[in-house]
Amino acid sequence: MDHKCIDKILEKYGHQESSIIAILQDLQEEENYLPENDLAYISENLPIPLTRIYRIATFYNAFNLTPRGKYPVSVCMGTACHVRGAPMVFDRVRLELGIDIGGVTEDGLFSLETVNCLGACALGPIVVIGKEYHGNMTPAKVESTIKKYRKRIAKEK
Ligand code: FES
Repeated sequence: MDHKCIDKILEKYGHQESSIIAILQDLQEEENYLPENDLAYISENLPIPLTRIYRIATFYNAFNLTPRGKYPVSVCMGTACHVRGAPMVFDRVRLELGIDIGGVTEDGLFSLETVNCLGACALGPIVVIGKEYHGNMTPAKVESTIKKYRKRIAKEK
């Protein structure tokens, strides 16, 4: 992210060390993850050592240190989803997106990850795309759902 944008975030929180979590949340909202050089810039401009920023960033599951797509795709592989066919759903997602776990599509729109339980087991298998939950997924539904997202994204451009 360009430094002017990071400066805006830092100004929003008055360059307060105590706002580091909110600052990291805003950065992640913009970038979908916490880029290494942005964390270094924040450390240079706040009285917080980079090692402490990393400690915070790795402590909270909500933060990601590796690149993610604009729409991160999470496939639940928890037990309830697993017995209802999550592995086949996962394989289809991988095929549709052409990436593996941790990967990002070339257009930067999608990334792929798995989770162990989203707390909505009765709706399994579940796939989360961006912030939207898709329950009772099947391999066929994966294909149509991702197509819908691609169409929606194309319209937004
Ligand atoms: S196991 Fe998938 S939501 Fe609980």
